[in-house]
Amino acid sequence: MNNGIGEVLITVAEIKHKVSELAQRLTADYEHKELTIIGVLNGSLIFLSDLIRHIPFPVKIDTIRANTYIGASAISKTETDIINNISLNLKDEHVLIVDDILDTGKTLSRIVQVIRGHNPLSIKVCVLLNKEVRREIELVPDYCCFEIENKFVVGYGLDFDNKYRNLPYIAVLENNG
Ligand code: IMP
Ligand code: MG
Repeated sequence: MNNGIGEVLITVAEIKHKVSELAQRLTADYEHKELTIIGVLNGSLIFLSDLIRHIPFPVKIDTIRANTYIGASAISKTETDIINNISLNLKDEHVLIVDDILDTGKTLSRIVQVIRGHNPLSIKVCVLLNKEVRREIELVPDYCCFEIENKFVVGYGLDFDNKYRNLPYIAVLENNG
Protein backbone atom coordinates (compact mmCIF):
# COMPACT_ATOMS: atom_id res chain seq x y z
CA MET A 1 0.00 0.00 0.00
CA ASN A 2 1.24 3.47 -0.97
CA ASN A 3 -0.59 6.38 0.72
CA GLY A 4 -3.92 4.58 0.27
CA ILE A 5 -3.35 4.09 -3.45
CA GLY A 6 -4.16 0.61 -4.71
CA GLU A 7 -4.03 -1.01 -8.13
CA VAL A 8 -3.16 1.23 -11.08
CA LEU A 9 -6.16 0.89 -13.37
CA ILE A 10 -5.02 3.09 -16.25
CA THR A 11 -1.35 3.87 -16.89
CA VAL A 12 0.27 7.11 -18.03
CA ALA A 13 0.91 5.61 -21.48
CA GLU A 14 -2.70 4.42 -21.88
CA ILE A 15 -4.03 7.88 -20.93
CA LYS A 16 -1.65 9.59 -23.33
CA HIS A 17 -2.69 7.33 -26.19
CA LYS A 18 -6.45 7.76 -25.62
CA VAL A 19 -6.24 11.52 -25.16
CA SER A 20 -4.42 11.98 -28.45
CA GLU A 21 -6.87 9.61 -30.19
CA LEU A 22 -9.77 11.66 -28.76
CA ALA A 23 -8.20 14.90 -30.01
CA GLN A 24 -8.07 13.38 -33.50
CA ARG A 25 -11.77 12.52 -33.35
CA LEU A 26 -12.59 16.03 -32.14
CA THR A 27 -10.50 17.51 -34.94
CA ALA A 28 -12.40 15.47 -37.53
CA ASP A 29 -15.76 16.48 -35.99
CA TYR A 30 -15.12 20.17 -35.21
CA GLU A 31 -12.20 21.46 -37.27
CA HIS A 32 -14.29 23.77 -39.44
CA LYS A 33 -16.75 24.79 -36.72
CA GLU A 34 -16.73 27.40 -33.97
CA LEU A 35 -16.01 25.30 -30.88
CA THR A 36 -16.13 26.33 -27.24
CA ILE A 37 -14.81 23.75 -24.79
CA ILE A 38 -16.22 24.04 -21.27
CA GLY A 39 -14.24 22.25 -18.56
CA VAL A 40 -15.99 21.22 -15.37
CA LEU A 41 -13.80 22.21 -12.42
CA ASN A 42 -11.91 20.85 -10.57
CA GLY A 43 -11.98 17.28 -11.89
CA SER A 44 -11.38 18.06 -15.57
CA LEU A 45 -8.28 20.23 -14.95
CA ILE A 46 -5.59 17.77 -16.01
CA PHE A 47 -7.61 16.03 -18.75
CA LEU A 48 -8.69 19.39 -20.20
CA SER A 49 -5.18 20.83 -20.25
CA ASP A 50 -3.72 17.75 -21.96
CA LEU A 51 -6.60 17.43 -24.42
CA ILE A 52 -6.61 21.03 -25.64
CA ARG A 53 -2.88 20.93 -26.35
CA HIS A 54 -3.54 18.13 -28.85
CA ILE A 55 -6.14 20.18 -30.72
CA PRO A 56 -4.59 21.87 -33.76
CA PHE A 57 -7.36 24.37 -34.65
CA PRO A 58 -8.53 27.49 -32.75
CA VAL A 59 -10.94 26.76 -29.90
CA LYS A 60 -12.35 28.88 -27.10
CA ILE A 61 -12.06 27.60 -23.52
CA ASP A 62 -14.21 28.35 -20.50
CA THR A 63 -14.93 26.61 -17.20
CA ILE A 64 -17.87 25.93 -14.94
CA ARG A 65 -17.91 24.71 -11.36
CA ALA A 66 -20.78 22.76 -9.84
CA ASN A 67 -21.51 21.10 -6.54
CA THR A 68 -23.94 18.18 -6.24
CA TYR A 69 -25.24 17.35 -2.76
CA ILE A 70 -28.25 15.93 -0.93
CA GLY A 71 -30.66 18.76 -0.14
CA ALA A 72 -31.65 19.62 3.46
CA SER A 73 -35.43 19.58 2.98
CA ALA A 74 -37.71 16.99 4.61
CA ILE A 75 -37.99 15.11 1.32
CA SER A 76 -34.27 15.25 0.58
CA LYS A 77 -33.40 15.09 -3.06
CA THR A 78 -30.15 15.69 -4.88
CA GLU A 79 -29.44 19.25 -5.87
CA THR A 80 -26.72 20.72 -8.03
CA ASP A 81 -25.52 24.27 -7.47
CA ILE A 82 -23.57 26.12 -10.13
CA ILE A 83 -20.77 27.78 -8.14
CA ASN A 84 -18.95 29.53 -10.99
CA ASN A 85 -20.78 29.93 -14.25
CA ILE A 86 -19.31 30.38 -17.71
CA SER A 87 -18.60 33.86 -18.98
CA LEU A 88 -18.26 33.35 -22.75
CA ASN A 89 -21.14 34.02 -25.12
CA LEU A 90 -22.26 30.69 -26.61
CA LYS A 91 -24.41 32.08 -29.38
CA ASP A 92 -23.31 30.59 -32.74
CA GLU A 93 -20.96 28.21 -30.89
CA HIS A 94 -20.78 24.46 -30.76
CA VAL A 95 -20.17 23.43 -27.14
CA LEU A 96 -18.20 20.49 -25.84
CA ILE A 97 -18.51 19.92 -22.09
CA VAL A 98 -15.46 18.14 -20.65
CA ASP A 99 -15.48 16.38 -17.28
CA ASP A 100 -13.40 13.79 -15.48
CA ILE A 101 -16.05 11.14 -14.90
CA LEU A 102 -19.69 10.39 -15.62
CA ASP A 103 -21.02 8.62 -12.53
CA THR A 104 -24.69 9.00 -11.51
CA GLY A 105 -25.09 11.64 -14.22
CA LYS A 106 -26.58 14.22 -11.84
CA THR A 107 -23.86 16.85 -12.19
CA LEU A 108 -23.44 16.67 -15.94
CA SER A 109 -27.15 16.52 -16.72
CA ARG A 110 -27.62 19.72 -14.70
CA ILE A 111 -24.68 21.36 -16.47
CA VAL A 112 -26.11 20.38 -19.87
CA GLN A 113 -29.38 22.00 -18.81
CA VAL A 114 -27.60 25.22 -17.76
CA ILE A 115 -25.61 25.37 -21.01
CA ARG A 116 -28.76 24.72 -23.04
CA GLY A 117 -30.13 27.94 -21.55
CA HIS A 118 -27.36 29.82 -23.38
CA ASN A 119 -28.74 28.60 -26.76
CA PRO A 120 -25.56 27.25 -28.39
CA LEU A 121 -25.73 25.57 -31.82
CA SER A 122 -24.97 22.14 -30.31
CA ILE A 123 -23.95 20.54 -27.01
CA LYS A 124 -21.89 17.38 -26.61
CA VAL A 125 -20.48 15.68 -23.53
CA CYS A 126 -16.90 14.40 -23.30
CA VAL A 127 -15.58 12.47 -20.31
CA LEU A 128 -12.33 10.76 -19.45
CA LEU A 129 -14.11 7.96 -17.57
CA ASN A 130 -17.57 6.44 -17.72
CA LYS A 131 -18.96 4.38 -14.81
CA GLU A 132 -22.11 3.25 -16.56
CA VAL A 133 -23.39 0.91 -13.80
CA ARG A 134 -23.75 3.89 -11.45
CA ARG A 135 -26.05 5.90 -13.72
CA GLU A 136 -29.24 7.32 -12.14
CA ILE A 137 -30.03 9.93 -14.77
CA GLU A 138 -29.91 8.79 -18.36
CA LEU A 139 -26.94 10.39 -20.08
CA VAL A 140 -24.71 8.82 -22.73
CA PRO A 141 -21.35 10.53 -23.26
CA ASP A 142 -20.69 11.56 -26.86
CA TYR A 143 -16.95 11.05 -26.31
CA CYS A 144 -15.37 8.83 -23.67
CA CYS A 145 -11.79 7.64 -23.18
CA PHE A 146 -12.32 4.69 -20.81
CA GLU A 147 -15.26 2.62 -19.53
CA ILE A 148 -14.57 1.55 -15.92
CA GLU A 149 -16.24 -0.76 -13.44
CA ASN A 150 -17.76 0.34 -10.15
CA LYS A 151 -14.60 1.26 -8.25
CA PHE A 152 -13.66 4.59 -6.70
CA VAL A 153 -10.66 5.89 -8.59
CA VAL A 154 -8.25 8.79 -8.12
CA GLY A 155 -5.53 10.53 -10.10
CA TYR A 156 -5.25 12.51 -13.35
CA GLY A 157 -7.63 15.12 -11.91
CA LEU A 158 -9.88 12.80 -9.91
CA ASP A 159 -9.78 13.30 -6.17
CA PHE A 160 -10.71 11.85 -2.84
CA ASP A 161 -11.17 14.63 -0.26
CA ASN A 162 -9.48 16.96 -2.78
CA LYS A 163 -6.28 14.91 -2.73
CA TYR A 164 -4.58 12.69 -5.34
CA ARG A 165 -5.56 14.84 -8.36
CA ASN A 166 -1.86 15.23 -9.16
CA LEU A 167 -1.16 11.52 -9.72
CA PRO A 168 -0.23 11.07 -13.41
CA TYR A 169 -2.12 7.74 -13.64
CA ILE A 170 -5.55 6.49 -12.50
CA ALA A 171 -5.60 4.16 -9.53
CA VAL A 172 -8.16 2.52 -7.29
CA LEU A 173 -8.41 4.06 -3.84
CA GLU A 174 -7.95 1.33 -1.23
CA ASN A 175 -10.61 0.79 1.46
CA ASN A 176 -13.13 2.95 -0.34
CA GLY A 177 -16.18 2.42 -2.56
P1 IMP B 1 -22.28 12.46 -10.74
O1 IMP B 1 -23.09 13.69 -10.58
O2 IMP B 1 -22.68 11.37 -9.77
O3 IMP B 1 -22.19 11.93 -12.16
O4 IMP B 1 -20.88 12.86 -10.19
C1 IMP B 1 -19.83 13.16 -10.94
C2 IMP B 1 -18.74 13.65 -10.01
O5 IMP B 1 -18.53 12.76 -8.89
C3 IMP B 1 -17.45 13.66 -10.77
O6 IMP B 1 -17.26 14.87 -11.45
C4 IMP B 1 -16.44 13.41 -9.68
O7 IMP B 1 -16.07 14.62 -9.08
C5 IMP B 1 -17.17 12.57 -8.64
N1 IMP B 1 -16.83 11.13 -8.78
C6 IMP B 1 -17.63 10.13 -9.18
N2 IMP B 1 -16.97 8.95 -9.19
C7 IMP B 1 -15.71 9.23 -8.79
C8 IMP B 1 -14.52 8.42 -8.61
O8 IMP B 1 -14.47 7.19 -8.81
N3 IMP B 1 -13.41 9.09 -8.18
C9 IMP B 1 -13.39 10.43 -7.95
N4 IMP B 1 -14.45 11.22 -8.11
C10 IMP B 1 -15.61 10.62 -8.52
MG1 MG C 1 -15.74 16.49 -10.25
